[in-house]
Amino acid sequence: QRDMFQDIFAGRVSKERGAIELKEIDALFDGGKPKFDRIAIVACGTSLHAAMVGRYVIESLTKIPVAVDYASEFRYRDPILDSRTLIVPISQSGETADTLAAEKLAKERGCTVMAICNVLGSSITRAADTTIYTYAGPEIGVASTKAFTAQLVALVLFALDISRRTGSLGAEQIKSMVEEMLKLPRFVADVLEQSDHIKDIAEMIAGAENVLFIGRRHNFPVALEGALKLKEISYVHSEGFAAGELKHGPIALIDSGVPVVAIIPKDESYEKMLSNVEEVKARGAFTIAIASEGDEAINFTVNEVIRIPAASEFIIPILASIPLQLIAYFAADHKGTDVDQPRNLAKSVTVE
Ligand code: M6R
Repeated sequence: QRDMFQDIFAGRVSKERGAIELKEIDALFDGGKPKFDRIAIVACGTSLHAAMVGRYVIESLTKIPVAVDYASEFRYRDPILDSRTLIVPISQSGETADTLAAEKLAKERGCTVMAICNVLGSSITRAADTTIYTYAGPEIGVASTKAFTAQLVALVLFALDISRRTGSLGAEQIKSMVEEMLKLPRFVADVLEQSDHIKDIAEMIAGAENVLFIGRRHNFPVALEGALKLKEISYVHSEGFAAGELKHGPIALIDSGVPVVAIIPKDESYEKMLSNVEEVKARGAFTIAIASEGDEAINFTVNEVIRIPAASEFIIPILASIPLQLIAYFAADHKGTDVDQPRNLAKSVTVE
């Protein structure tokens, strides 16, 4: 993953000027005016989780409303669509049947389609008006890993370029965000250095019956993704929750030793996340924090800490995803399940 960023940034981000331009989206604008009033993202599985993170990023940077749908449900709820809706199917493979069907429905209703996709010339890109390619390189294992982080990067670049064109962010703000994006290879390398520690933690939880992942805001979908990854390749039952929802039901699952992985960077949700972690700890949970470098206080609250670099909130989901992917990988490897080809799953789901 550390090495894919230069391909994603190539021709889009200028290191020297800290500038950004996605030529792929030129046709979606008339000068500084977008030709759309709202964005509707459709995707499945891991790509849906990327979409959910994208909603937070795009809305907060551009102030354009974003809806996110399971592609598998989209065509069955008679969605309200018009020519001012930009439809964004997100897909690693570009062949997912439900995502393609959602895209086709949107085209029939007169929407413009901008795909985010990893596979050049795939069906979803051929049906789209334009595509932001994620350039993560071929992904062989069934579990989407680098394709997911590449989708997150593509969504941030998309949001930043809308902001540049519409003026929703100033040039200096964009420059500093671009400069931070350019640090991603180093940030990711810092996370990967903890692989041995993450392996130890994964082996501790590999035998659990249930594992819970919690997060708030941008990191709520990351919690969903951490749970999907773990269950998909290790067959350990795992669920992700918005931390604020715990008390509405899921906290009943907490018992002595139940692992809870909390994504708790130092951001504006920190205090609320901390009290959620304390609530589960008080009920006996084995707590693992994905926490910011420099947050020493967290050591006194949780059982185990995995560090991610202190970074802006739009970058944190990219960094927080990597230890979760490693937890899934090491837990599966420890159990001896097939990490690349889990049972009952196909890399691209070309049937409904
Ligand atoms: O190729 P796509 O991104 O459209 O695939 C969507 C899902 O099938 C896919 O993300 C699936 O959830 C992965 N196996 C998750 O790792």
